Amino acid sequence: LCLIGMANVNEATVDYSNKIILAPMVRMNTLPFRLLSLDHGADLVYSEELVDHKLVKTERRVNDVLGTVDFVDPLDGQVVFRTCPREKNKIILQIGTASAERALEAAKKVEKDVAAIDINMGCPKQFSLAGGMGAALLSTPDIACNILTTLVNNLSIPVTCKVRVFSNETDTIVLCKKLEACGIAAIGVHGRTKAERPRHANRVDMIRTLTQHLKIPVIANGGSKDIMDYPSILKFKSVTNASSVMVARAAQDNCSIFSSTNGVKDIHQLIKEYLKYCVDYDNAAPNSKYCVQSMLGSQQESPLGKKFLESQSLEQMCDLWGLGDYWRQKKDEYTTGGLISRWELTP
Ligand code: FNR
Repeated sequence: LCLIGMANVNEATVDYSNKIILAPMVRMNTLPFRLLSLDHGADLVYSEELVDHKLVKTERRVNDVLGTVDFVDPLDGQVVFRTCPREKNKIILQIGTASAERALEAAKKVEKDVAAIDINMGCPKQFSLAGGMGAALLSTPDIACNILTTLVNNLSIPVTCKVRVFSNETDTIVLCKKLEACGIAAIGVHGRTKAERPRHANRVDMIRTLTQHLKIPVIANGGSKDIMDYPSILKFKSVTNASSVMVARAAQDNCSIFSSTNGVKDIHQLIKEYLKYCVDYDNAAPNSKYCVQSMLGSQQESPLGKKFLESQSLEQMCDLWGLGDYWRQKKDEYTTGGLISRWELTP
C-alpha cells in the first residue's frame, strides 16, 4: 500500500480532551518555564510564538551536553527554540505565519521533535497584523484555511489553531466551523475580540456556545482574571463547557495553579526551581531575568526584588536564591563538556 500522495498522513496524536494547558506566551514560554509548568501539573505546554521566517532559517542541532535539541540561527548562534525529550509528547509549538508554504517549511523543521503545531490566529499586535499574521487571519479565512489544510495534509503530527472571537456570535461560529473543517485536532478560543484588551470581559458565553457547534475539543482561554488556583481553573472549564482550558497570565504569576493536589506554592520556591532549570538548560540571562521578573510581580519592590533588578548574569540571580554554588558547579561541568554557550557573558 503506497501512502505517498495520500491527503492525510497524520500518524501521531495528542489527546486534547480534558486537559489543563499552559497557553502560549512570548518570552515566558521558553524551555525552563515549560518544564516548571509540567512539574506543577500542566498536561500540555505551548511554546512562545515563533515567526515562520525565523524558524525556517534555523539549523537543528542535537546538544549532547545539555541533552536538548536546539534550533539555532546559524548566522548569530541564537537559540530560537530549545526542547528536550521530557516534553516531547507535551510541547505544542506555535507558529506565527501568513503563508501556507512558509508555515509548512517551519513546521517540517520541528515535526520530529514536538507533539503538535499550533497556528496563532489571535495576536493583535501591530507587527503581526501588518504581516497578515495572528488575528489578521480571522479576516482572511481563505488564507487561514489554506495554512491549516496544508499543514494537516503534510505533517505527521496534529495541527491546531488559537483564535479570538468576533463580537457577533454567528460570525464566530461560521469561522470556527470553517477552521474545524480543515481537519484540525482542536481549537483554542480566547473569548475577546481583536480590539479588546485584558480589562475587557472575557466572553465566556460565546465560548460556551461554540462548544455546542463544534465537534473537536474547544480549549477555553481568557479566564486569568478569575483564576488563582486549581479549583478556579476547573470553574472556568465548567462555565465555558469547554473540553480543555489554557491559562496564560495566571500561570505566569504562579504556575503551581496547575497542581490539582498540592495547593499554590510560595513564589520564591517556584523561582528557585525555575532558576535551576535555567542553569540546567543554559537559558539566556536576559530571558531568565524577564521570567523571574514576571513571577516576582509586585515583590520587585522588596529588598530582594531590588537587588534582583540590578542583576545581569544568571550567576547573580542564582546567588540571590541560594543557587550560586549550583550554578558554578554546572558551569564547570558544561565547560568541561565543551558546551559553546553564553557563560562568557557572565562577568
Ligand atoms: C500572550 N498571549 C499570546 N498568545 C499567543 O497565541 N501567542 C503568544 O505568543 C502569546 N504571547 C503572550 C505573552 C504574554 C506575556 C501574555 C500575557 C499573553 C496571549 C495568551 O496566550 C492568552 O490568549 C491571553 O493572555 C488570555 O488568556 P489569560 O491570560 O486570561 O489566561
